[in-house]
Amino acid sequence: MEVVHVGDVLRNAQILAGESDTPGLDLQVLLAAVTGRERAWVLAHPEAELNMRQVQQLEAALPRLQAGEPLAYLTGQREFFGLVFEISPAVLVPRPETELLVEQALAWLRQHSRPLRCADAGTGSGCIGVTLVFHAPNVILTATDISRDALQIARRNARRHQVESRVSFVQGSLLQAFGDGFDLVCANLPYIPHADLAELKVSCWEPQQALDGGADGLAWLRKLIEDAPRLLAPQGMMLLEIEARQAAAVSCLAQEQFPSATVRVFQDLAGHDRLIQIQR
Ligand SMILES: C[S@@+](CC[C@H](N)C(=O)[O-])C[C@H]1O[C@@H](n2cnc3c(N)ncnc32)[C@H](O)[C@@H]1O
Repeated sequence: MEVVHVGDVLRNAQILAGESDTPGLDLQVLLAAVTGRERAWVLAHPEAELNMRQVQQLEAALPRLQAGEPLAYLTGQREFFGLVFEISPAVLVPRPETELLVEQALAWLRQHSRPLRCADAGTGSGCIGVTLVFHAPNVILTATDISRDALQIARRNARRHQVESRVSFVQGSLLQAFGDGFDLVCANLPYIPHADLAELKVSCWEPQQALDGGADGLAWLRKLIEDAPRLLAPQGMMLLEIEARQAAAVSCLAQEQFPSATVRVFQDLAGHDRLIQIQR
């Protein structure tokens, strides 16, 4: 069998061009998973020889990546806000844009030293909620999801990062099972308009119920905002990830429920409207 070196694979990034915006990085992450090493090791050892099992794993993985399958479903993990999360096809792959929500949430949480009750509605892999609890020792979290399989992954991620004693996982729609008293409600709910889904590559791989936001994309966001007066404590805050074109509509929904609240829109690194903050 022909000898394959780490560097040979890394030089071949063009085989993923067209399918990935970051083909070089994807190959580094894949090699790290296949060799059981850190990405830094992969970069520092282009001369390392892959063994037969590693070459076979690569040969099995590359056609799947070329077909558009998310890398995180192949490696079973994804880094988010500096923490590694277990990922399966039952959950949305955490996106870098969602780190904006976590950044704003942590900035707000750090202004308070008292215990705070937080919620993560539609927790998926748990990337938002688990990260908040990991970084904010004063937080007690309720994480919900409609999907039992997603909740299992989220629970394992809480265990992995040793925060499960401060997280309750509840299967159900939004925060319907709860009354008042959340200091912070976070949510990255499905927000893609139903009719757009068929056109999008993500819908071939990631769970429909993580993507489908109903006719106008706002079905779940609207419902959560309608429930907000019941859910939020008097000085409470809500942080909602949105699709770039939804800022005006979601701000309007928020202002209807809370005429005197401060509603702000934040942009992601690409300059797109990505986050709505409702400060009661
Ligand atoms: C866009 S994904 C986000 C997952 C994760 N929070 C993240 O940021 O990566 C939306 C999640 O909401 C869940 N979901 C969809 N409808 C829901 C509902 N009515 N109530 C609770 N969770 C819901 C989906 O199963 C999915 O895990």
